[in-house]
Order: sequence, then C-alpha cells, then structure tokens
Amino acid sequence: MSNLKIATTIKEVRDTVKEWKSQGLTVGLVPTMGYLHEGHGSLIKTSASECDKTVVSVFLNPTQFAPNEDLESYPRDFEQDKVLCEKMGADLVFHPEVSEMYEQDNATFVEILSEMPKQLCGKTRPIHFRGVCTVVSKLFNIVTPDKAFFGEKDAQQLAIIKRMVRDMSYGIEIVGCPIIREEDGLAKSSRNTYLNEEERKAALCLSKAIFFGQSLVEKGETNANKVLGEMKNLINKEPLARIDYVEAVDGVTMMPVDKIEKDTLVAMAVYIGKTRLIDNFSVK
Ligand code: PAF
Repeated sequence: MSNLKIATTIKEVRDTVKEWKSQGLTVGLVPTMGYLHEGHGSLIKTSASECDKTVVSVFLNPTQFAPNEDLESYPRDFEQDKVLCEKMGADLVFHPEVSEMYEQDNATFVEILSEMPKQLCGKTRPIHFRGVCTVVSKLFNIVTPDKAFFGEKDAQQLAIIKRMVRDMSYGIEIVGCPIIREEDGLAKSSRNTYLNEEERKAALCLSKAIFFGQSLVEKGETNANKVLGEMKNLINKEPLARIDYVEAVDGVTMMPVDKIEKDTLVAMAVYIGKTRLIDNFSVK
C-alpha cells in the first residue's frame, strides 16, 4: 500500500499541512512541472532528508510559457511521476488543474522590477520569470513550507526566487541543489526527451563547453571574454547547435561581468534543432 497522498485541491493541501504543523513537523516543498527525472529525484530526496514531510507540486504552469513556446507539447507522465515521488520519500503530491490555480479573471502577478529577470533567459523569454514568481509565490502561500528546493541548473530562476523571498519577507529557506547529469555529461532535463538520436549526441556540446570553461577558470583564467569565446568556439563546431547566449554574470544580480571571480555564474542557452537547452557553472 502506498503512503503517498495525492491532492488536487488547495484545501486538501492546506488541511494536510495544518495537521502536520499541529504535530510540530517541518515541511519541505519541491515545485515541479512534472515529467520528473533524477534531477527532481535529488531535490525530493534532499527535502525528505532535511524536513519531516515533503510536498511535491506537479503543475505545468501556463503563465510562464509565451504563446510561441512548448506548453502544449511539454512531456507529461503523472503515473511515473508518482512512482519517483514515492521512491524518493515524498509524502504528498499536489497535482492541481489549471482552474484550481488560476481563476478565469486572474489579474494578479508577482514580478521583480529590476534587470534580473531581463538578463540571460529573460531576453528571449520576457514573461517567463513573472509566471515563475507568480506560481511559486502561490505555492508558498498554499503549502507554507519551512524550506523549498530548486535545482541549480535553473540558476537564474534560483537567484530570482531567492530575491523574491527576500523582498516579500517569505521566511522560507531556499535550498539550491546541484545539477544532475547523464553519464556522458548532458544536464538532466525534461526537455531532453524532445531530442532525436542525432540531436542527443549534438547536445553534448553544452556540457563539453561548460567543463572546458570551468577548466580554464580553474587554471586561473579570469578574462570573461576569453573564457566565453573559447566556449562559444566549441559549441559553434556543432552544426546542429545555435547559441542563444553564453554569458558570465554576477551570481546574485545576473548583470554581465568582465572578470570571472568567486560567485560568477557562467550560463548558456543553446538550441539543438528546435530544442532550447540550458546549462551553467558557478565559480566557488
Ligand atoms: O523549474 C520549474 O520546473 C518551474 O519553473 C517551477 C519552479 C516548478 C515553476 O513552475
């Protein structure tokens, strides 16, 4: 018999969390859009090890997709998602319909009014982080977690959520978890499923460029132009790849930097065929 509870309504989540809190238990939240892989698995496992109870939200959030993006084709497999959630130690999966999360006439959004969401992915996805902040803030209000867990692969998202939590006084600890990679280096992503065999091979140019850039920095190179130039050369050798951006930015503000130093984020988005993939490394 499965111990995993599935909730589709906000009320069910609130009632369950209220019961847990009355017993003095701590709650972790892992927000996801479903089609879970080992990257999500590691977030759930970390939450389960740090909190008494773990809630995983599986919600394909329409407000973070522009009309020309992949909302309709985004992969889904809720049966498999439940299996992974249970295996990794989740206690409750929140899987609401869009109508449960957004009223027809929803007109309230959460947005960071600085350059932060306009940099990197924000240049080609201008409404993306407004949708992310809105849904994450709603999930925080519904679940009222002590801690929330996000992957470092979405480094800009992680920085933006930390900023939102600070600015809105959420009192929730945001925990960033390391990028999980396939054996050959490709960062795990639900979007990897879009790649055909040839594209899957080509996609390795992202992680190769990340590892190469990282090795240059480890050898002492601090000139951002040089490091980024070498990384771009490597990606441009791959005929199926088209660079969206390869940039070095301050890890907190997301503003471009000329010198690579501690806390610099080197991030990229690259199209492999029609699939847009991201990857990054942070300087420790
Ligand atoms: O990273 C994601 O999967 C999504 O952006 C998130 C945080 C679940 C919000 O929909």
